[in-house]
Amino acid sequence: ALISMRQMLDHAAEFGYGVPAFNVNNLEQTRAIMEAAQATNSPVIMQASAGARKYAGPNFLRHMILAAIEEFPEIPVCMHQDHGTSPAICQRSIALGFSSVMMDGSLEADGKTPSSYEYNVDVTRRTVEMAHACGVSVEGELGCLGSLETGEAGEEDGVGASGKLSMEQLLTDPEEAADFVAKTGVDALAIACGTSHGAYKFSRPPTGDILAIDRIKAIHQRIPNTHLVMHGSSSVPQEWLAVINEYGGAIPETYGVPVEQIVEGIKHGVRKVNIDTDLRLASTGATRKFLAEQPAEFDPRKFLSAQLTAMKEICIDRYNAFGASGMA
Ligand code: G3H
Ligand code: 13P
Ligand code: NA
Ligand code: ZN
Repeated sequence: ALISMRQMLDHAAEFGYGVPAFNVNNLEQTRAIMEAAQATNSPVIMQASAGARKYAGPNFLRHMILAAIEEFPEIPVCMHQDHGTSPAICQRSIALGFSSVMMDGSLEADGKTPSSYEYNVDVTRRTVEMAHACGVSVEGELGCLGSLETGEAGEEDGVGASGKLSMEQLLTDPEEAADFVAKTGVDALAIACGTSHGAYKFSRPPTGDILAIDRIKAIHQRIPNTHLVMHGSSSVPQEWLAVINEYGGAIPETYGVPVEQIVEGIKHGVRKVNIDTDLRLASTGATRKFLAEQPAEFDPRKFLSAQLTAMKEICIDRYNAFGASGMA
């Protein structure tokens, strides 16, 4: 069944777990997520990015997610628009039937330039007004995602700020978060706490508290009724990097967010955990391996099935690790 994000995350807060929010662009990702959710009896957040809307088109995305809901009627599903850059984009998704939208006002409408606080409050407040009138939840974002190691925002061509960020931008301020929630009425708030988008988060193996866990704790204490969202939460599985590079790929050494660090965040109010890169790595690795090992094979369904299996395993791992299993 299609449910709002508010409804799903209220349950997650009550029972102290986190819901992975996986990005979807195609059938294989959609099926992998749903089969994993069914296998573990977990609630599902599927999110469509601007890149997904461009790749598959909003109508295909919508019908694919609706098809998933139809085929897995016992699983609660939230259909979420990831990183909207304007109230108009969010309005379009609301009209399409999304049950949740992200208005990312931390950046200007170009999706790159860090915005002013006043701008962020204004576009987010307007989106909340519109969305809540339709029973749709809203996620806002305060602060700029970027590595505490380098100050870099992460992937260059994807979503997110470009260039160097200051420490102040890299960590969401708890007082400002409280003011932001009071002024906008968002259901969930994406915070900057040391994660960044894409595969290149950390250049060395992360040890200890690589995320600003104390900051997450402080924000949660200040706004306990707002669900916190962790973007850039891929763990960048070293096994999949090794497979990709063994079978002709060339991905330099890089590390993601350890699952244990995300679990720490979940203990302190993180309820939605955004993951895209991990499924990309798994599907690329599975495809390279399959085609290298079976060079005479040319039925795409064969390697697409290998992708699906690889992605499904990651989804199952995350549902289990975040405590979402059994919560559907
Ligand atoms: O938030 C970023 C996601 O990884 C989606 O990126 O626009 O390339 O699909 P994308
Ligand atoms: P990753 O690039 O770490 O998978 O993050 C995805 C994300 O935050 C989507 O909004
Ligand atoms: Na989002
Ligand atoms: Zn994101």
